[in-house]
Amino acid sequence: MRLVLCESAAETGQAAAAIFAARIERGPCVLGLATGSSPLPVYRELIRRHREADLSFAECVAFTLDEYVGLQPVDARSYRATIRDEFVDHVDLPVAALHSPDAADPDPQALHRAATAYEETIRLAGGIDVQLLGIGANGHIGFNEPSSSLASRTRIKALTQQTREDNARFFGEDETVPKLCLTQGLGTIRDSRHAVLVAQGAKKADAVAAAVEGPVSAACPASVLQMHPHATVILDAAAASRLRNVDYYRHVQRLNDELGLLP
Ligand code: F6R
Repeated sequence: MRLVLCESAAETGQAAAAIFAARIERGPCVLGLATGSSPLPVYRELIRRHREADLSFAECVAFTLDEYVGLQPVDARSYRATIRDEFVDHVDLPVAALHSPDAADPDPQALHRAATAYEETIRLAGGIDVQLLGIGANGHIGFNEPSSSLASRTRIKALTQQTREDNARFFGEDETVPKLCLTQGLGTIRDSRHAVLVAQGAKKADAVAAAVEGPVSAACPASVLQMHPHATVILDAAAASRLRNVDYYRHVQRLNDELGLLP
């Protein structure tokens, strides 16, 4: 696991976007996209590079991590609509190349079929090359809440009350945040070739410390990244504030900067 310690949220976006851009410039690739606040600086920087530095997504395929059950893809509160609004519609990624779990039909059998189909579509695309991740205050990645199997695949999950409250800001006052979602599993995320987690703010500091320096445990789903062959964790100062081995991470970061060891 590589730690990248940044001063600001904007810097986390630049560091993560540089990883995505380097992969995209090498040729056609499959991107994993996350929703929420954490990836916004990354998308801002990728959009800037698209506009000002000719970074093209025309040959990319993209998969989102998760979707609320019961929302139509065109519903503005759906993660598919959100990712289009925040990123895809601002670059040249073909909309037909954007995949997201189909969670519109709340019938359990339909959801099981959609989850299986999503896994198969990822497999047929050749797997995910670079997966962007945020982390919940309780350590979730995707919507794999604590107690999720570290080997799980795309499936139905029940959201915790905390996650629903955290995400209530995307819903109107008189609207209910869905109780269920379809999410890529921790096993699905672990299969990505490069996992890039970004976190900003003190609210994430405990979850980040547990994920990076705690035991590998379903109690902190993001700790599965310790088992990932190529994971990069990009943090601003507040999100890194509860880490113990900061001096070592900075030392490695300096070596990398000097020697250009790692992508
Ligand atoms: C979103 C997702 C979630 C979020 C996490 C953090 O697709 O999968 O894991 O990344 O809930 O959300 P923010 O970034 O809004 O704090």
